[in-house]
Amino acid sequence: MTKKTIAVLPGDGIGPEVTTAAINVLETIADKYDHHFTFQQGWIGGSAIDEKGDPLPRETKEMSAESDGILLGAVGGPKWDRLPGAERPEKGLLEIRKSLDLYANLRPVKAYASLIESSPLKEAIVANVDFLIVRELTGGLYFGEPKKREDIRGETQAIDTLLYKASEIKRIAERAFQAAQLRNGKVVSVDKANVLESSRLWRETVDDVHASYPDVELEHMLVDNAAMQLIAQPAAFDVMVTENTFGDILSDEASMLTGSLGLLPSASLGSTGVGLYEPVHGSAPDIAGENRANPLAAISSAAMMVKYGFKMEKEAEKIETAVEKVLADGYRTADIAPKMEEAVTTTEMTDAVIKALE
Ligand code: NAD
Ligand code: IPM
Ligand code: MN
Repeated sequence: MTKKTIAVLPGDGIGPEVTTAAINVLETIADKYDHHFTFQQGWIGGSAIDEKGDPLPRETKEMSAESDGILLGAVGGPKWDRLPGAERPEKGLLEIRKSLDLYANLRPVKAYASLIESSPLKEAIVANVDFLIVRELTGGLYFGEPKKREDIRGETQAIDTLLYKASEIKRIAERAFQAAQLRNGKVVSVDKANVLESSRLWRETVDDVHASYPDVELEHMLVDNAAMQLIAQPAAFDVMVTENTFGDILSDEASMLTGSLGLLPSASLGSTGVGLYEPVHGSAPDIAGENRANPLAAISSAAMMVKYGFKMEKEAEKIETAVEKVLADGYRTADIAPKMEEAVTTTEMTDAVIKALE
């Protein structure tokens, strides 16, 4: 019997609904494969502000750092939108990523055959979409030193700084090339090197790292073109590596190739051993509390946890196959249902996945 302690940070909005779904799936896997998973709940985000006065309380940070894996829902919501930057729910998420040095955010984008019609794009474009976004997660604009000040005329100015060190670019590029070696051997590095100095360092560093991976093909692409190519010929991508902000935006765009943001999982890995697994989507305040959220992104994030965090390949594949099966069997939450009256709830979708696991 393998024992694992999982830190569960449900967060806000639909976060608790989708993490409950993922826990239920993990419990089924534990039963089936004779593992023992212990779940420890922690506060993060807006609910942590309300309960503890801090978007990332010390207990949460410590418990997460000592766990074997962190399962996170989502943070944020209108209730906390007027707080200053340093006190917002999102600050809790950024801080846990930074404090655990979770610099490599892996966001797989795969079109399910049975969901092709859910994408707003033509079938010929989205068929065979299967790529991995490797998003740098602990640098760039997100971690610059934002300042607000008044100029000599008394006008208010806001400043965000975009800083990357060569060492930060090097380590994420290595992850991308290594991922490509296990896939189809192609990396597209996305930047804005025609304008940004940080992007020119990015490009130069990625080229340097590439010298050690001669078996991998490398292409550089400007981010505006990449946004277009994602729609024009998404099936041509294998691994896309990019900096923090571009990766955030391009991954939400890429989610629509699969039909919904509610399908995309992610794994944030770093240098400390513990990984954080969370859906790409946010707290979806517009549907929170209605049992309508698609739990598959969170469930697939749990699959990434058992695969990358616990090295349980069979178990991960079992979850992935169950997700494919419920979609093939026609289960559709509201975000992917062609007709609203045919949509299943969050809990019905979760139960279907659990049934498919048995
Ligand atoms: P969002 O991702 O929460 O929602 C965007 C749209 O997608 C909404 O219409 C929502 O209903 C839909 N959607 C998202 N997840 C879904 C799911 N699982 N099933 C069905 N539909 C789903 O983005 P937003 O509305 O721009 O942001 C809302 C809040 O979430 C903000 O406070 C933002 O900061 C936060 N956020 C948090 C994370 C995170 O915790 N990782 C990620 C993104 C946004
Ligand atoms: C995500 C989210 C976060 C990000 C926000 C909530 C800080 O959008 O995980 O994609 O931009 O990284
Ligand atoms: Mn995002």
